[in-house]
Amino acid sequence: MTDLSLFQPLALGGLKLRNLIALPPLTCSRSSQPGNVPNDLMATYYTQRATAGFMVTEGTQIEPRGQGYAWTPGIHSEAQVEGWRKVTEAVHAQGGVIFCQLWHVGRVSHTSLQPNNQPPVAPSAIRASAVKVFIETGPETGALADPSEPVELTTPQVRELVEFYHLAAINAKKAGFDGVELHCANGYLVNQFISEHTNQRTDEYGGSLDNRLRFLREVCEATIRVFGGERVGVRFAPLFESTDEERVYLGLVEQDPHQTYVQAAKMLDELGIGYLSIAEADWDNSPDLPVSFREALREAFSAPIMYSGRYTEAKAQDILAKGYGDLFGFGRTFIANPDLPHRLRNGLALNPVDAATLYGGGEQGYVDYPFSKL
Ligand SMILES: Cc1cc2nc3c(=O)[nH]c(=O)nc-3n(C[C@H](O)[C@H](O)[C@H](O)COP(=O)(O)O)c2cc1C
Repeated sequence: MTDLSLFQPLALGGLKLRNLIALPPLTCSRSSQPGNVPNDLMATYYTQRATAGFMVTEGTQIEPRGQGYAWTPGIHSEAQVEGWRKVTEAVHAQGGVIFCQLWHVGRVSHTSLQPNNQPPVAPSAIRASAVKVFIETGPETGALADPSEPVELTTPQVRELVEFYHLAAINAKKAGFDGVELHCANGYLVNQFISEHTNQRTDEYGGSLDNRLRFLREVCEATIRVFGGERVGVRFAPLFESTDEERVYLGLVEQDPHQTYVQAAKMLDELGIGYLSIAEADWDNSPDLPVSFREALREAFSAPIMYSGRYTEAKAQDILAKGYGDLFGFGRTFIANPDLPHRLRNGLALNPVDAATLYGGGEQGYVDYPFSKL
């Protein structure tokens, strides 16, 4: 065993993280309407959790077509940039570090969420199955719905999308973020380009694995131009078993996830990406990530690797001691325990999370979880 601790600092992108406990990206659907604008309530939520070594915002759409769920925030309008600035200033005042998760849902959307009620855009015109979107049905009310049939992006439109990532990174910098994380997981746009199930293109963005990774590479290059590679992270969700549950959660599964994601990690390493975030399967009885994959990632990628998915202090400590990971995201546990690092460090009891108040609504189940009195 080693004496590595979750409470030791970590260097990431020229920043000094004060511990290895991270707030992973967590959609809460509480932005102000109309306009999907980050607000004071969100600033309070992130500030409450600023003792994390590292924080990533909820998924934040880079352009109007990138939205797949009502009330999620964006980073493409002036008002949104101003709203996020309040968040970053409040977090920085507490000595926290915060990256913005740049999100485009691609086909996982609905005409009612799209500009002029147009169909969502995707690498290929293949409808997402076994996954739901969330649409507004009235003021502060909404419902789950099936995603709409998407239209295939033309080659110039794909290039234009790369430029939208570039603009979003510029906005993230204006808003005061320390960096950006590219959401390339969970069956959304970048993942749709990577997977052969959702990408049947015949141009340079489809076909071979190299071609399917081209969009990811160009999006990385575009955001690196703004922040430098060290301040750009990438999130993947590689899945290794194809069960119904997984399809419900993601809407797609890779044919050969090991080969796909190890090759992608090598590419990101060459680009100088600052960290890799791996979202592990997180439902009850979900399969473990193969150890051979963790080892191959370590081999392929030299910067820090963050793991999330039902982590406990003991599991994080184990993965750290084995040398597989450097940073650990605690999702639902961090929502319910704003002072999570303090609680873990002192062995204090944890508040349970209330699943009913995760998405939408106001303060309840968002900023009213109690801090420990001990
Ligand atoms: C309410 C909720 C919202 C989430 N939103 C996002 C998101 O916006 N972007 C993302 O990459 N992952 C998202 N995730 C996945 C989490 O970042 C994390 O990987 C997952 O919750 C597993 O960690 P946990 O078991 O500690 O909660 C979300 C998960 C939950 C529960």
